[in-house]
Amino acid sequence: MSAPTLDRPAAERPDEAALQRQFDATIAADRRIEPRDWMPEGYRRTLVRQIAQHAHSEIIGMQPEGDWLLAAPSMRRKAILLAKVQDEAGHGLYLYSAAETLGADRADLTDKLIERRQKYSSIFNYPTPTYADVGVIGWLVDGAAICNQVPLCRSSYGPYARAMIRVCKEESFHQRQGYELLMTMMRGTDAQRAMVQDAVDRWWWPSLMMFGPPDDDSPNSAQSMAWGIKRHSNDELRQRFVDMTVPQAAVLGVTLPDQELAPDPETGRYRFGAIDWSEFKQVLAGHGPCNDERIARRRAARDDNAWVTEAATAYARKHES
Ligand SMILES: [Fe+2]
Ligand SMILES: [Fe+2]
Repeated sequence: MSAPTLDRPAAERPDEAALQRQFDATIAADRRIEPRDWMPEGYRRTLVRQIAQHAHSEIIGMQPEGDWLLAAPSMRRKAILLAKVQDEAGHGLYLYSAAETLGADRADLTDKLIERRQKYSSIFNYPTPTYADVGVIGWLVDGAAICNQVPLCRSSYGPYARAMIRVCKEESFHQRQGYELLMTMMRGTDAQRAMVQDAVDRWWWPSLMMFGPPDDDSPNSAQSMAWGIKRHSNDELRQRFVDMTVPQAAVLGVTLPDQELAPDPETGRYRFGAIDWSEFKQVLAGHGPCNDERIARRRAARDDNAWVTEAATAYARKHES
């Protein structure tokens, strides 16, 4: 998308340096960049990549829990889970729309996801063998998403920041429904408690990986922070998540699978053990337990439902003319 100023005769056109100064001043004043504003190409590219990755994560993220929709233990649990999975679809839509304001095309983004040219959060490549996984995903995965996303409500790009406000409100419900489910199971039988503990053991470390690589191995972070796209570093957000979650685990009565997890009297925060980044890289590179299944299902959804898209597009065109 080109800035509207470029259509004017050369004499009236503000030069690139002036546009850059105006952009820098907007960022420095903590005001929002809007779709029609001039922006540096790198800023646009970074945003499209990040927003697309985020949108893909919401859509792929429907799958691990969606598997339980037909096997939920009660009507109440089914209704809650259905509402939650539907919310994630909505999040994907807001985000694809935000990417479109930057000139991206949603169908093209979907193709890139399916062809593995764009990524989604590594967390959704883990399996959900028991119903406790639904609760733990709500508690830990949606909890980590909140830590990541609340600062994005102040992101410098207007449409992204505004989408995040509603997304965060819904994520906070997701987190609480997960925690409530786990609380219920913890009040149940020994087998149910063991199921919760097993799910916590499997999801804890992958949840910490959701914040991305450590700061000294995150090459794009500094630029994203300078542009106001990102507000806090990966390690800072990860630490916040740990500090928030440890007391919740104690109330729940589960053990987090990390021998080194302990309060640090000097900082008042929790110290935790080393993360296995080789696992993260493996999963991100497409070799996690469920990568192939997730992509295959997304591809089938696109192909099998192409007729709906075609019909809707034809209908919209008819009403345009
Ligand atoms: Fe979401
Ligand atoms: Fe969520």
